[in-house]
Amino acid sequence: MIELIDLHKSFGTQRVLRGVNLTIPDGKITVILGPSGTGKTVLLRHIIRLVLPDRGTIRVDGVEMGKLKSQELNEFRKRFGMLFQQAALFDSLTVEENVAFPLVEHFKERDPVRVAATVRKKLELVGLAEAIHKMPSELSGGMRKRVGLARAIVLEPKIILYDEPTTGLDPITAAAIDNLILSMQKTFSVTSVIISHDVVSAFRVADQVAMLHDGCIVECGAPKDFQRSDHPVVREFLKAAHVVNGEVHR
Ligand SMILES: Nc1ncnc2c1ncn2[C@@H]1O[C@H](COP(=O)(O)OP(=O)(O)OP(=O)(O)O)[C@@H](O)[C@H]1O
Ligand SMILES: [Mg+2]
Repeated sequence: MIELIDLHKSFGTQRVLRGVNLTIPDGKITVILGPSGTGKTVLLRHIIRLVLPDRGTIRVDGVEMGKLKSQELNEFRKRFGMLFQQAALFDSLTVEENVAFPLVEHFKERDPVRVAATVRKKLELVGLAEAIHKMPSELSGGMRKRVGLARAIVLEPKIILYDEPTTGLDPITAAAIDNLILSMQKTFSVTSVIISHDVVSAFRVADQVAMLHDGCIVECGAPKDFQRSDHPVVREFLKAAHVVNGEVHR
């Protein structure tokens, strides 16, 4: 379980997070929606302590992230996989080396045959086995994202944080990514946190949907309840995405 308790974060005079409270249950998929620039990425980065809050607590499986020493933090981070918004691939490494990176770096896996087999399996999962020897500059945006996803799952983490996994993808690839997220949950009981403004994807995968607005979580619940929310920002967001009674009408 991940608990975010009264998180505050400002950059200069800009108050981005203003008291975020959210509980993310184990083995479920939680989607955090919110318009561009509301602090979704900032929030996600707090969970693995890439950013420290000005105030508040982040607890993962009962462990307070802010209290971990740097060695403990390194160890603890092995529980997480993270898909960054811009994939964040190393441009000078091949696809294969990018996906292998956490294995070599964190698990000190040195057996080249084992590394190659694991990397190939993950690339097959995201439908990119044929791109294994390419450089990131030779990939489309969607392909980069899928390589980032293969890298995020290479250590078979118990918690996966996804920053906009389907944004900018064609509908078929987006649906394939949604299915992958669902199968990670079903097969490995992964806890998933997805931040997104893709409402269609959100309702396809979520067990719990939350809305970040003005630095706070203003609504949180099962998809059905979320859709019935009478919070004006939620209503506006769903209306803009053409969601009516859980269906997208365009
Ligand atoms: N390191 C930083 N220094 C200063 N300001 C920052 C920093 N990181 C984020 N911000 C600011 O915090 C705000 C929220 O940014 P964030 O990236 O979390 O938005 P977002 O909700 O993820 O948006 P999008 O949907 O476009 O990805 C923005 O105004 C951004 O400029
Ligand atoms: Mg973002």
